[in-house]
Amino acid sequence: MKILMINCSPVRNGATAEIIQTAHSFLKKTHEIRSICIDDYDVHFCKGCRSCHRTAVCVQKDDVTKIIAEFEWADSIVCVSPSYWADIPGQFKAFIDRCTPWCNTHEPHASIRSGKKGYAIALRTGPGMRECNRIIESIEHFYGHMEILPSGSLGLCSVEYKEDVEGRKQEIEAFCAQIK
Ligand SMILES: Cc1cc2nc3c(=O)[nH]c(=O)nc-3n(C[C@H](O)[C@H](O)[C@H](O)COP(=O)(O)O)c2cc1C
Repeated sequence: MKILMINCSPVRNGATAEIIQTAHSFLKKTHEIRSICIDDYDVHFCKGCRSCHRTAVCVQKDDVTKIIAEFEWADSIVCVSPSYWADIPGQFKAFIDRCTPWCNTHEPHASIRSGKKGYAIALRTGPGMRECNRIIESIEHFYGHMEILPSGSLGLCSVEYKEDVEGRKQEIEAFCAQIK
């Protein structure tokens, strides 16, 4: 199976990247994996013009279609997002907004191949799971409108730096074992 892992943080070598690295090492034994970082792409803000509601295409030209091509490649997608001010980072939100051409609430809309599964991992420095759940909800809301089936989630509290991930390896691997 082909699995796409997305680092939804702008930090390419932080805690989010380390979680992806841990998951990648575990999953590569049985699956084909690609990992991308949201900040490696040029994604302009949605202008809210709603042209895509009529045309199913954005008026802007940037890297959004490159990211969607990675989605198209994958059978399963794993978004790994830190909490930034109790929410997903702005770079990831900008990408989600730009997925409006693919959003199933208007016709016509573009679509990616059906049958994909979506997984969410949220991390934060603070101790409470509520904030992780909020991030997971945002990711699963996005999956729903892209017609990607939300299929599992993991919240990791008390993580700030990549060094904090080592002690969570078992939790991450146990979660990855369910990814299909
Ligand atoms: C701008 C910013 C805002 C943050 N806001 C929160 C927050 O509201 N709650 C929290 O628990 N952690 C917060 N954090 C901590 C991050 O969730 C945590 O350090 C995470 O491990 C960062 O992963 P990264 O380095 O891969 O981006 C914030 C970090 C940054 C940089």
